[in-house]
Amino acid sequence: MRILVCGGAGYIGSHMAKWLGAHGAEAVVLDNLSTGHREAVRFGRLIEADLLDPASLDTAFALGPFDAVMHFCARSLVGESVQKPYDYYDNNVVGTLNLLRAMQRHGVGKIVFSSTAAIFGEPVSARINETHPKTPINPYGASKLMVERVLADAGAAYGLRSVCLRYFNAAGASPDGDIGEAHTPETHLIPNVLRAALGNGERLKVFGDDWPTPDGTCVRDYIHVDDLAQAHWQALAYMETHAGAHAFNLGNGQGFSVREVITAAEAVSGHEIPWDIAPRRAGDPAVLVASNDLARRELGWTPRYTSLPEIIETAWRWHCAPTF
Ligand code: UFG
Repeated sequence: MRILVCGGAGYIGSHMAKWLGAHGAEAVVLDNLSTGHREAVRFGRLIEADLLDPASLDTAFALGPFDAVMHFCARSLVGESVQKPYDYYDNNVVGTLNLLRAMQRHGVGKIVFSSTAAIFGEPVSARINETHPKTPINPYGASKLMVERVLADAGAAYGLRSVCLRYFNAAGASPDGDIGEAHTPETHLIPNVLRAALGNGERLKVFGDDWPTPDGTCVRDYIHVDDLAQAHWQALAYMETHAGAHAFNLGNGQGFSVREVITAAEAVSGHEIPWDIAPRRAGDPAVLVASNDLARRELGWTPRYTSLPEIIETAWRWHCAPTF
């Protein structure tokens, strides 16, 4: 099996390419290296191409035939999307349309799409299932929801098979310390907590302690990056027997506050983490926790990393000795 992994030099995509290699499939990585790392592509061939440049996509598809596409390329920062909505709609919506048209030109009929919990906006129930209202509160979430709609329409019109996987908060790193999460600038909570733990002079900023949550800090559902990879693998199998467009929420089903993450990271690292309260960050919902029942039932998916310390432990190993 040969899979085109778009965004395979990035955090989640590189773990996916590694997973494919470990399961006997061939990954061809397409990436523009705008935020990805050449060094993260160790488990497949890298093609430098840009979704906003359709000619470069044809060059990549010429390396096929591909059995399916996995699409991880995106601008994905909630706060930045509020400041730069045009960039988000361009990359995430126009870029994906270019990719879908390229798939059509080259006869590739299956795609697994990286969607997000951000499509739901402020939750109206304690755990978010697939029928939850989809009312994004930031351009990032809106851009991903638009693509979900495009995929549903393409399923009806062209017979495209798709699975949208709505990640909650991807976290952790390959347990062997080989690859991990490296963003510049880093905006995500767990890497920032671990950098503060390493004592590099930076104090962690906690964005708001007056949220309507038990300790006043935001609650998120952290899901290990290899558990996400496993779900993509199962989504490939699912599309063999299921036509049309499908979507699943992927989280642990448990929420942890920012302060709970700090406490867990202190225990894992053995270091005290210096932090200060900062103003709320634009576009942040107070709480995001998944119901993962549908993914368990339909995909046969079971997350292996169920405890927060276990997830943080893999990230800590990477942050202590990053290779890029
Ligand atoms: N936070 C801090 N300090 C930091 C970084 C984050 O307090 O230095 C807080 C945020 O305000 C938020 C929580 O920690 O409350 C998690 O923030 P992240 O930036 O780690 O993650 P987000 O929840 O903003 O977003 C992530 C992905 C999105 C995805 C979303 C889905 O970046 O792509 O999870 O839940 F949509």
